[in-house]
Amino acid sequence: MRTGVWLVGARGSVATTSIVGGLALRAGLTAPTGCVTELPALRGPALPAFTDLVFGGHDLATTPLTKRAETLADAGVLPGRLAATLAADLAAVEEELRPAPTGGTQAERAATVVADLAAFRQRHRLARVVVVNVSATEAAARPHPGHADPAALRAALAGPDEVLPPSSLYAYAAVEAGCPYVDFTPSTGLRLPALAELAVARDLPYAGHDGKTGETLVKSVLAPMFAMRHLAVRSWSGVNLLGGGDGATLADPAANAAKVESKQRVLGETLGYLPQGQTRIEYVEELGDFKTAWDLITFAGFLGTGMRMEFTWHGCDSALAAPLVLDLARLTAAAHAAGRVGPLSELAFFFKDPLDSPTHSLSEQWQRLVEFTGRLHAGGAA
Ligand SMILES: NC(=O)c1ccc[n+]([C@@H]2O[C@H](COP(=O)([O-])OP(=O)(O)OC[C@H]3O[C@@H](n4cnc5c(N)ncnc54)[C@H](O)[C@@H]3O)[C@@H](O)[C@H]2O)c1
Repeated sequence: MRTGVWLVGARGSVATTSIVGGLALRAGLTAPTGCVTELPALRGPALPAFTDLVFGGHDLATTPLTKRAETLADAGVLPGRLAATLAADLAAVEEELRPAPTGGTQAERAATVVADLAAFRQRHRLARVVVVNVSATEAAARPHPGHADPAALRAALAGPDEVLPPSSLYAYAAVEAGCPYVDFTPSTGLRLPALAELAVARDLPYAGHDGKTGETLVKSVLAPMFAMRHLAVRSWSGVNLLGGGDGATLADPAANAAKVESKQRVLGETLGYLPQGQTRIEYVEELGDFKTAWDLITFAGFLGTGMRMEFTWHGCDSALAAPLVLDLARLTAAAHAAGRVGPLSELAFFFKDPLDSPTHSLSEQWQRLVEFTGRLHAGGAA
C-alpha cells in the first residue's frame, strides 16, 4: 500500500526529523523507538509499512533538506551519520518539495496545492496521500461568513479576502484533492463547519489537534491519578522553556495564546474544575530543539492536608514528535482504506486537544486506540 506523506512545513524541525527517521527506518538503519504503531498491541497488516511511505511537502522556506538535517544533527537532535548516509534519499525527497503558493486569490493558491498533491499521487502511483500539518503555529482564525458552509466558502475564496488561515487553506486543498488530513499543530486546520462538511462529503477521515509530546503528555497521566484518588488539585502551574523555530513562533502572543489554550484543556476536562495557575511558554534561543518544562502542583488530601509535587521534563521536541507523525500517517491511511469518514476520535492518544474525544486520560485513550487498530487489522469497517 504505497502511501504518500505530504508535510505542510516540510523544511521545519519536526518534518525534517520525520523524513530522516522515515528514510532511516526504511533502510533498516534505526530502531522504531517512539513509534507506537510498532508495539505488539498495535502493529499489524492494515498499516502501510515504513518501506511504503513516500515523502513530499510544501514550505515557505527554501533551505535545502540536507542542510536542515545537518543543522539538526549539529544540534544533537539526530545522529550526524544518518544525514550523511541518507544524502541520496534526502536529495530524492528534495525533488518532491514544492514552494508554498503565495499571491493571487486563496482559490488560486488552493488550486496550486491540489495540483501538487494530485501530481505527487500520480507520479509515485500512490494508493493515497495523507496531508500532515507540521507548519508554524498560527493565531486563532478570524471569523468569516465563508466558514459556515461549503458554498459560502467557495464563493468567498474566489474573492480578494484572506478567508482562511494558511492551515485551513491547506486542509481545504487536501480535501479537494481527496486526501485525509492530520493536524499536528494547534492551528485551526479543518476545524471549521464548511471544511468538516466537505471532508464528510468527500468520504475522508481527519485527525488532530496538536501533538502531545511533553508536558501535556505527563499531565494526561497525572491528572487522572489525582481525579481517581479524589485528591483536590488546588493549583497547577507550568513553565515551558524552549528554543527552535517553534519557540520563536510561540514568542508571538497570538500563537502563544493558541498553544496555551490547547495545553490547559486537559486539566479542566479531566478534573472537572480548573485549578489555579497557568501554563507559560518562554522562548530561550539557546535551548534549540530541547525543551524544559517545570510544573508545580499543590493539592489537598483527607482533612484538607496540603501537599505538593513537582516535575521537570527535559525533552527533545522533534525526536518526540517525529515518530508520532509517522504513526499518525500510517493509522490515518489505514482508516481511509477501511472507509472511515470524519474525525478520528480514536487517535486522541496522540493529541493535546483531540477532536471529539470522550476522555483526556492517556490510559483510556490508549485502550480506544488498541481497539481501533484491532478492528483495522481484522479488516472490519473501523
Ligand atoms: N515538536 C513537538 O514536540 C511538537 C508538539 C506538538 C506540536 N508541534 C507543532 O508542530 C509544528 C512544527 O514545529 P517545528 O518545531 O517543526 O517548527 P519549525 O518552525 O521548525 O517548522 C515550521 C515550518 O513551517 C514552515 N511554514 C510556515 N508557514 C508556512 C506556510 N504558510 N506554508 C508552508 N510552510 C510554512 C516554516 O518555514 C518552517 O519550515 C508547530 O506548529 C508546533 O507547535 C510540535
